[in-house]
Amino acid sequence: MATAIHLRRLGAAAVVATAASGAFLLQPSLSASDRGAGSSSLGAVRQRISDPNAVVPSRAAQEAALIGASAANPLDILVIGGGATGCGVALDATTRGLRVGLVEREDFSSGTSSRSTKLIHGGVRYLEKAVFNLDYGQLKLVFHALEERKQVIDNAPHLCHALPCMTPCFDWFEVVYYWMGLKMYDLVAALRLLHVSRYYSAQESVELFPTLARKGNNKSLKGTVVYYDGQMNDARLNVGLACTAALAGAAVLNHAEVVDLLKDEASNRTIGARIRDNLSGKEFNTYAKVVVNAAGPFCDSLRKMTDQDAKPMICPSSGVHIVLPDYYSPEGMGLIVPKTKDGRVVFMLPWLGRTIAGTTDSNTPITLLPEPHEDEIQFILDAICDYLNVKVRRTDVLSAWSGIRPLATDPSAKSTESISRDHVVCEDYPGLVTITGGKWTTYRGMAEDAVNAAIKSGKLTPENGCLTSKLQIVGGDGWDPASFTVIAQQYVRMKNSHGKVVPGVMDTAAAKHLSHAYGTLAERVAAIAQNENLGKRLAHGYPFLEAEVAYCARNEYCESAIDFIARRSRLAFLDTDAASRALPRVIEILATEHNWDDSRQKYELEKAKEFLKTFKSSKNAQFVHSFFTGTLTGGIFSGLNSGAKEYACHTQHMVIVTHL
Ligand SMILES: Cc1cc2nc3c(=O)[nH]c(=O)nc-3n(C[C@H](O)[C@H](O)[C@H](O)COP(=O)(O)OP(=O)(O)OC[C@H]3O[C@@H](n4cnc5c(N)ncnc54)[C@H](O)[C@@H]3O)c2cc1C
Ligand SMILES: *[C@@H]1O[C@H](CO)[C@@H](O)[C@H](O)[C@H]1NC(C)=O
Ligand SMILES: *[C@@H]1O[C@H](CO)[C@@H](O)[C@H](O)[C@H]1NC(C)=O
Ligand SMILES: *[C@@H]1O[C@H](CO)[C@@H](O)[C@H](O)[C@H]1NC(C)=O
Repeated sequence: MATAIHLRRLGAAAVVATAASGAFLLQPSLSASDRGAGSSSLGAVRQRISDPNAVVPSRAAQEAALIGASAANPLDILVIGGGATGCGVALDATTRGLRVGLVEREDFSSGTSSRSTKLIHGGVRYLEKAVFNLDYGQLKLVFHALEERKQVIDNAPHLCHALPCMTPCFDWFEVVYYWMGLKMYDLVAALRLLHVSRYYSAQESVELFPTLARKGNNKSLKGTVVYYDGQMNDARLNVGLACTAALAGAAVLNHAEVVDLLKDEASNRTIGARIRDNLSGKEFNTYAKVVVNAAGPFCDSLRKMTDQDAKPMICPSSGVHIVLPDYYSPEGMGLIVPKTKDGRVVFMLPWLGRTIAGTTDSNTPITLLPEPHEDEIQFILDAICDYLNVKVRRTDVLSAWSGIRPLATDPSAKSTESISRDHVVCEDYPGLVTITGGKWTTYRGMAEDAVNAAIKSGKLTPENGCLTSKLQIVGGDGWDPASFTVIAQQYVRMKNSHGKVVPGVMDTAAAKHLSHAYGTLAERVAAIAQNENLGKRLAHGYPFLEAEVAYCARNEYCESAIDFIARRSRLAFLDTDAASRALPRVIEILATEHNWDDSRQKYELEKAKEFLKTFKSSKNAQFVHSFFTGTLTGGIFSGLNSGAKEYACHTQHMVIVTHL
């Protein structure tokens, strides 16, 4: 593996050439000298990841490395699925000195991992159960979540931060209950505490959160308890994990689907996979001593490839989020209602300059591109309406998406154990280790468990133990919250001014955005903006720059227009209309980077427009007939004879009518 790394770093051409001859993996190892054990290996890995001149191997080189893994000379581990879990596994395994490949059907984090609530949970909800059921197991979950929360934030400081979350209390019992609960949470967190929680009076609360209603459920606000959790940019963190794994030596490939698993006839052991490159249409085999199935909600479909009668282990549930304009919530404060009148959780969180709102999950079938239903969107709007003094309108919904949570049961566990939110690692078919369940927050610990299981299964010989708890992802090492000032002071970007393109200062919004999205590598993006005349914004009102498209195509395996608008930048999630307007320019730049012809450009535009339709902003909302009539009778009439606040909510339905 070390040889492969060195060769790749000499340049893609060399690798492709040697891979084609099938020899590169057998060359005498250069590694003995630079691979020590223990902490020195951490140092070496860190150096490789934070080398300012490091460039990830090209897609062609990665594919060649996978093709070069033959039955006689297999990879140690092949990971299927490029979500948080799969990329975490690839990074962990490759930094233990193993030879690793990863294939992802669509894009890194195109599944659930880009569709989360973006919270890095410390496990407050487990605490309640731990206390009331005196359940030590639940308390252990809290400890674990708190530990992982701290490490995720430390290891990707540019993409994660602590977020204060306000819990409104409408009677004094709630005040005491939440205050005591959250104080206990602080206590349990101890050194892993982000910031101390505290109580604010109703007056103070409204100053901090001006849109908070002073009355809810017919009761007046008594005060709020504010506690801290983590927040992240989920898809960028996921892409960062993939790129970090690539820099450390893993052969990661997106737009590559496993279409079948390869089995050894005699032993029945999974020994590899047949892969289809969805960009070229090419199919090839790759071999590994152990295959790790990290396909999230789809992990059963892979288990079925090896055994048609495999008992499903996933019980999918889906969650919908909507994005609202920034004026719904203040910039630095979230709102979480742990229990609404019908017992659901409702939240509103500031994110990348807009507001995300959502509620708890519901059951769902598994689909490739989940879409939110109109009634789910209405439900969220109605739920937040109770806690806000803003007029909540359907027309304000800038984007809305649905994600499928891979809730898992362990097939080897004895029958009727209840579904848990914790992860499952199992090898129910020899050579195929499945890792699923869990959550984003615990991806690193999940990966560690999965790699341990894979090492055991394949009798692999890692060079060192797990290093990921102290390993920063690319762009994180040396990053500082004030790093954006350097970008603001040292770079210019081209701007449109009265119809002319002129150089202008890198404004603070753009500088801050680049610094958070790319960490220490933001300077590389800023240099492209300045030197290649790619400094204009892609969409009015958003800080995303043209230079990012070129940068992501060169350094982050951005292979399609959707890859850019959904995962490299987050425009599709923030505002589908803005994303749609940015598309022609995004495609133009990608066409230059990847040499796309006209028909490919047309295909990209069509596909991206189709994709955006699955994000139900008010522009994209398609109102089914039954819903429409249902609303007419239920909505407007009930709106007319109830209180003023109800009316504010239900006027939405009338706005929709005019919208049609
Ligand atoms: C609504 C919602 C909100 C959430 N909020 C939070 C939160 O705030 N905090 C938190 O910690 N967690 C949260 N979670 C949980 C978290 O998002 C998931 O646990 C996590 O993203 C799962 O990652 P994964 O890698 O296992 O799955 P995925 O991200 O789904 O990755 C699986 C990948 O496998 C690929 N794949 C499938 N089949 C194949 C194949 N045949 N070949 C190749 N590739 C294949 C898919 O394309 C996909 O990209 C939330 C989940 C949901 C649904
Ligand atoms: C609100 O409280 C008033 C007075 O206590 C009561 O008459 C009314 O029915 C309540 N409304 C709701 C919606 O509970
Ligand atoms: C291989 O696995 C299949 C399905 O799990 C099983 O039916 C078959 O008997 C196994 N064969 C051997 C040689 O173990
Ligand atoms: C990629 O996958 C999509 C969807 O499955 C399919 O329509 C398309 O033809 C594939 N492209 C190639 C080049 O194989």
